Amino acid sequence: NGMTVRVSFNVNGRRTTLEIDARASLLDMLRERLGLVGAKKGCDHGQCGACTVLMEGRRVVSCLTMAAKADGRDVTTIEGIAGPDALHPMQQAFIDHDALQCGYCTPGQIMAAISCVREGHASTPEQIKEYMSGNICRCGAYAGIVAAIEQAAPRIERS
Ligand code: FES
Ligand code: FES
Repeated sequence: NGMTVRVSFNVNGRRTTLEIDARASLLDMLRERLGLVGAKKGCDHGQCGACTVLMEGRRVVSCLTMAAKADGRDVTTIEGIAGPDALHPMQQAFIDHDALQCGYCTPGQIMAAISCVREGHASTPEQIKEYMSGNICRCGAYAGIVAAIEQAAPRIERS
């Protein structure tokens, strides 16, 4: 029996309080305790980006982020970005540019892509590639991903 801690945080705008194992990752808390399975467990070692979510508006690899660190913070997952009537502009751009094949890496790619634009790293394809280099796509959809980010960038506010 490991030590448990209480985490109270906002996930996709909803206040949530949980008792969790003190060593649990944010990824496991999202997937196993909250049923938010959009973020994927690819490598579980910080090397593929499939688990990318936003914490306080900035991207984090949730497999390497302690769940306890979410306490008092805002977390956004792929499940929380679409509007009531429309996809998020980045989701739409991924569809428009065929920026996915199997889709496994896509939630992480989209969350990183939003962060790429908000942090001001989407001015050139080179900048985008550099920022997105931690998000691996085994299907090789990279060209579409860069094109999608270029399309969505003007529709997303910078932070
Ligand atoms: Fe987190 Fe691969 S599952 S980086
Ligand atoms: Fe298959 Fe990226 S779309 S891994």
